[in-house]
Amino acid sequence: MKAESYSIPQLVADLRQIRAQLKDEREILHAVRPIARRAALARDTWLEKRMYQADEQQGFGVHLLHEEPDHTLAVLALSWLPHRGTPPHDHGTWAVVAGVEGPEKNEFFERSDDRSRAGHADLRKVGQKVCGTGDVLAMPNGVIHSVWNESDAVSVSLHIYGKHINHTGRSQFDLEKKTETPFVVRVAH
Ligand SMILES: [Fe+2]
Repeated sequence: MKAESYSIPQLVADLRQIRAQLKDEREILHAVRPIARRAALARDTWLEKRMYQADEQQGFGVHLLHEEPDHTLAVLALSWLPHRGTPPHDHGTWAVVAGVEGPEKNEFFERSDDRSRAGHADLRKVGQKVCGTGDVLAMPNGVIHSVWNESDAVSVSLHIYGKHINHTGRSQFDLEKKTETPFVVRVAH
């Protein structure tokens, strides 16, 4: 069976409609989930070779497919180098991630400190989920997770955020050092 076509402009039109109609974050996530999966499964419509390119230093590649002028409704393709990933981080906004190619291991964390010391953060692992093609992860604002590509090939996933993650003041966490620092990613041009 041939996968249906679903372009990034179509996805963005649907995202705009969802945002116009829904204000509650839970309802937004519920509505974005199926269209993220639809876009992931329709990858032949929009996925380009260049989107497999990743930043060696960073461990992954960030390819911006869309953002509104005020940085909201950001759509990105992320490519993950084999056996690389991210430290635990939050997003500063809601996030929906759909697997496009290859499995990505997500580990979820909760803070066990009282947030009274700036820059200090103690995390404990609370779960994990491996996302393959078409699997969707919907994360409310505040969720902390790490992503790891355990496979021997580059993996790709489609990420939709309420706001571009470099404009939310979000954080990354160091589990051993117990620190919280700003997390800004390098976007491919
Ligand atoms: Fe993330």
